[in-house]
Amino acid sequence: MPKAAEKDRPGERDRGLSETRGGKAVPAHTGIIMDGNGRWAQSRGLPRTQGHLEGLKAAKRIVKAASDLGIQYLTLYVFSTENWKRAGEEVGFIMALIKKYLRGELAFYRENRIRIRHTGDRGGLSPDIAEEIRKAEKDTQGFEGMQVILALNYGGRDEIVRALRRLAAASGGGFSEAAITEAAIRARLDNPDLPDPDLIIRTAGEFRISNFLLWEGAYAEYMISPKFWPDFTGEDLALAVKDYQNRERRFGGPAPAERSGAEKNAGGAG
Ligand code: FPP
Repeated sequence: MPKAAEKDRPGERDRGLSETRGGKAVPAHTGIIMDGNGRWAQSRGLPRTQGHLEGLKAAKRIVKAASDLGIQYLTLYVFSTENWKRAGEEVGFIMALIKKYLRGELAFYRENRIRIRHTGDRGGLSPDIAEEIRKAEKDTQGFEGMQVILALNYGGRDEIVRALRRLAAASGGGFSEAAITEAAIRARLDNPDLPDPDLIIRTAGEFRISNFLLWEGAYAEYMISPKFWPDFTGEDLALAVKDYQNRERRFGGPAPAERSGAEKNAGGAG
C-alpha cells in the first residue's frame, strides 16, 4: 500500500513547507520544462547536440542555484515519453549525457547533500540508464538537502495511467467505482510523498505544458522565460521566484477582495 496520506481536498495537502526568504515563501517545489536547447544551437549554426551539452551545464548551474535559494524539490523535465520520436542519433546522445550526468555529479550531490529521485516509466528505459538511476537514488537517499527529481521517460498522462493501473492491481480485480478517488489516485503517482509543484517554469518562450506534471501541477503558478534553456541563469531563477512571491495563490478560493480580513491574515503566499 502506498504510504502517502489519503486526503481528498485538492490544493490542501499539496502545499510544501516553503522556506521563507525575506518574509515571503520560496516555492517549496519548482518544476522546470527545459526547452530551447536545439534552437540555442541552431541560432549559432551549431549541431543540436551542442545545445544539449550546454543544456546540461545549465542544469548543473540551476540545481546549485535552486539549492542556494532554499527550494526543497526541483523537478527537471529531462526526457518525455514523446521525445522518443526524435532522431535516433539525438536520443542516443541525450541518453549518454544523462548517464554521464548521473555518474559525474555524485561528488557534487554528496557535497551539497542533494537527493536524486526519478519520475517516469522506468520500464521503458534501457537497463543501463535504469541501473544508473537506481544507483544515484541509493547513494543519495539519506541526504536531507534539496531533492532533484529527474523526469525521464516521463509523461503526465502516462503517470496517471500507471497510477490507475496500480490502483486496479491493488483492488485485486474488484475495481469498484467508490475506489476511484482523487486521494487513491494521488497515492499511486510515482512519488506520492512529494508536495505538488508551487511554481513551473518553462524556457524558450513557449506557452505549453507538454504533458509535464499534469496531475501535480493543477494549482501551480506558471512562469514563461523567453530565454533558451542553455542561457538560463541562477539570476533568472531568482527572478522567477520573486515573480512567484508576488502572486496571490487562491487554490480555487475567492479573490482577495472577497475574503475576510482574518482569512487574509492567515493566508500568506502559499
Ligand atoms: C529541450 O530542448 C531539451 C531536451 C528535451 C533534452 C534533454 C535535456 C538536457 C540534455 C539538459 C539537462 C539534462 C540533465 C541530465 C539534467 P529541445 O531540444 O526541445 O529544444 P528545441 O525545442 O529548441 O528544439
